Amino acid sequence: MSTETSEKNTARGLFSGHIGFILAVAGSAVGLGNIWRFPYLTAKYGGGIFLLVYLILMLTFGFALIAAETALGRKTRLSPIGAFRAFSGFRHNKFLMTGGFINAVVPMIILPYYCLIGGWIIKFLFEYLCGNSAAMAESSFFGGFISSACEPIIWHLIFLGFTAFIILRGVEGGVEKASRIMMPILLILAVFVSIYSMTRPGAGAGIAYYLVPDFSKFSIMTVVAACGQLFFSLSIGMGILITYGSYMRKNVDIEAATGRIELVDTFVALLAGFMIIPAVFVFSGGSAEALNAGAGLMFITLPKVFESMGWGGFIGFAFFLMVFFAALTSNVSIMETCVSTLSDELHLSRRTATMIMFGEAIVLGVPCSLGFGPLDFISLGGMSILDMMDFLAGSMLCPFAALLTCLLIGRVIGVDVVANEIKQSSPFKREGVFRACIRTFGPIILLIVSVSSMAAALGFIKI
Ligand code: ALA
Repeated sequence: MSTETSEKNTARGLFSGHIGFILAVAGSAVGLGNIWRFPYLTAKYGGGIFLLVYLILMLTFGFALIAAETALGRKTRLSPIGAFRAFSGFRHNKFLMTGGFINAVVPMIILPYYCLIGGWIIKFLFEYLCGNSAAMAESSFFGGFISSACEPIIWHLIFLGFTAFIILRGVEGGVEKASRIMMPILLILAVFVSIYSMTRPGAGAGIAYYLVPDFSKFSIMTVVAACGQLFFSLSIGMGILITYGSYMRKNVDIEAATGRIELVDTFVALLAGFMIIPAVFVFSGGSAEALNAGAGLMFITLPKVFESMGWGGFIGFAFFLMVFFAALTSNVSIMETCVSTLSDELHLSRRTATMIMFGEAIVLGVPCSLGFGPLDFISLGGMSILDMMDFLAGSMLCPFAALLTCLLIGRVIGVDVVANEIKQSSPFKREGVFRACIRTFGPIILLIVSVSSMAAALGFIKI
């Protein structure tokens, strides 16, 4: 059975080349995960030690999974379900086939709540634009906003509308072009805001807190948290890299592109730490409570911090504009994966598939939003509807999807076949790392992460 499709014959949209592919995948990778999740986790799990574990995992395991998913997509020219079926179906391996379905379902779960958070970001951007930075610094501002029944849903629809507009313009003219425009602006804004934050009086203590390793905070949960962060941040186990790989030209060097994507993603995550931790440190005097504010850090603590610094309204606007670009390019990749799956599997036009996903994001996004207001009585183990969806997708399904990808490549397709796909356009210097991670370390780490996430959710271990 041939799984190859010639570039000339494919009706599939393609990225224009090396830079287009890198910017689109970097756009997908750089998102909310980098900007609020990474700095908060780094502060919580011992600063430099978390950073070290994260970097080691990224250069080995992260590299192997990005390259593997991309090569799988490029080889089959299909979205996740088809890509898995192309190999596991003919061996009647129903267990591995579920890997394709999980990769396809994860972005469908993430899309509604990512749009909701995207809507919150536009609301903040709008308020900064209107000069309301003082009102936003009030403790009750964010809580009052998200608990209202209608307003967050309107902003959610606006963010969803931006995303759908880009998707409808196609792979090169929409997805790639959006990243080409937004990513450079995002990088400039990130450098600007972090320099501003690091040069505030008293910021040095915050930088030290961020970077100096605190070995007493190291535990197995440091590795689990770093791994979970790696997944979310690099869009692994979400079907996105398989889909974007299916739009990649054969002459694009997968290994070099993966290296650049890792670099950009880590650079923005590190900068986000330099933006947020010293600023919060200056503001709170380094209180653990302020630094561990989690989701509240970005929407509650930061507006207060910006307001207390000179030029608060302007910096707040620059910061939320950067977050908006990061979230939008990531959301485009999430929705594009869903649209691609529907088009491939149900033979729908791009427009119809986009409209279906638009409807799905509303149907699931509305209860997510109401979960902070009229439906706040619905909760599981203290988790809101949004938290439950995030936990299901990010902590449970993503690692399992990646585990099945490793098993599919390591046990069914054969590492050689996927390595040869990568070698078509790359010298593949990190082939040894790739083989070891896909065949051995990947499945072991993924099993540990899946079991630990489950145990943490059930309260057996402390997160
Ligand atoms: N990789 C995307 C993020 O970091 C989903 O937000």
